[in-house]
Amino acid sequence: MAAMRSRRCAPGTVRVDKQRLKVAIQKSGRLTDHSLDLLVRCGLKYSRGKDQLLCFGENMPLDILLVRDDDIPDLVREDVCDLGIVGRNVLEEKRLALRAQGLAAPFIELQSLDYGRCRMVIAVPEDTSYQTAADLNGLRIATTYPQILSQWLITQRISAQVVILSGAVEIAPRLGRAEAICDLVATGNTLSANRLRELETVLHSEAVLIQTPAPLLADKLAWLNRIRLRIDGVQQVKESKYIMLHAPRSALADIRRLLPGSESPTIIPLEGHPERVAVHAVCRENVFWETLESLKAAGASAVLVLPVEKMLA
Ligand code: PRP
Ligand code: ZN
Repeated sequence: MAAMRSRRCAPGTVRVDKQRLKVAIQKSGRLTDHSLDLLVRCGLKYSRGKDQLLCFGENMPLDILLVRDDDIPDLVREDVCDLGIVGRNVLEEKRLALRAQGLAAPFIELQSLDYGRCRMVIAVPEDTSYQTAADLNGLRIATTYPQILSQWLITQRISAQVVILSGAVEIAPRLGRAEAICDLVATGNTLSANRLRELETVLHSEAVLIQTPAPLLADKLAWLNRIRLRIDGVQQVKESKYIMLHAPRSALADIRRLLPGSESPTIIPLEGHPERVAVHAVCRENVFWETLESLKAAGASAVLVLPVEKMLA
């Protein structure tokens, strides 16, 4: 690992500083932009190193390492990085591989993040008659996730041959290397472009934040806790809206019931209208037109719905 550290952190481009949090994220792929965006929404300003492999945090003691997603669990497990953001698919494959070697998976799973959603599925060519999981008995299934697939086959009591590939799994049936595949599906475009259809879902995946098993220095831990609170805030505001409206006092109980996911709203008297009040509330769920129509029917007027930019619970 020492060799890796010096290769990734070429002198002059990167300060290797034990006081700074190092976060490993996917270099290029489905999680890259979302992960960088999440850190920016948490307040991070960064500059990219010359080698494009490291982003230096300018206003927080936090640097980002851009690496292959499959390397992230080990980088965190071996304490080269303090944190990592990686798909549950990669994490689960690694956990099972470690377990097969009799090792526990000593990375700490901190929390799921609300992006990078996809599923791992078994798919077969469109023009075949396979319908159920049992139809997979005796077939060859190509995948880059042999551990997850093998485990699933055991739990389903299916006896099939796992064909391990390093990529381009979707063309394996056409090449005659397998009758089925096990791969990730997000939009479904890859499957349909290759005339494949889903048969079974094996795993639901999303981005996950993981932490090194090694104890963090107090300052780093404090920053990690701050960032985690900000992540919670970022995730909450995505759906949250700030609602302002006028309503008759007599309708307040009804109106409060209609506001989706709001805690105690602020009630403000309206000058010159003793029977009417202004209601301000944060709704932690999206506010749809139907809700606005119901609010109006309950007596509300001057309804405004505003996006929430930041929130700290
Ligand atoms: C996955 C998978 C498919 C594609 C499916 O690859 O192997 O090729 O995504 O997505 P779709 O349903 O939106 O078409 P990924 O981009 O994760 O790359 P990797 O497997 O090489 O890491
Ligand atoms: Zn990958």
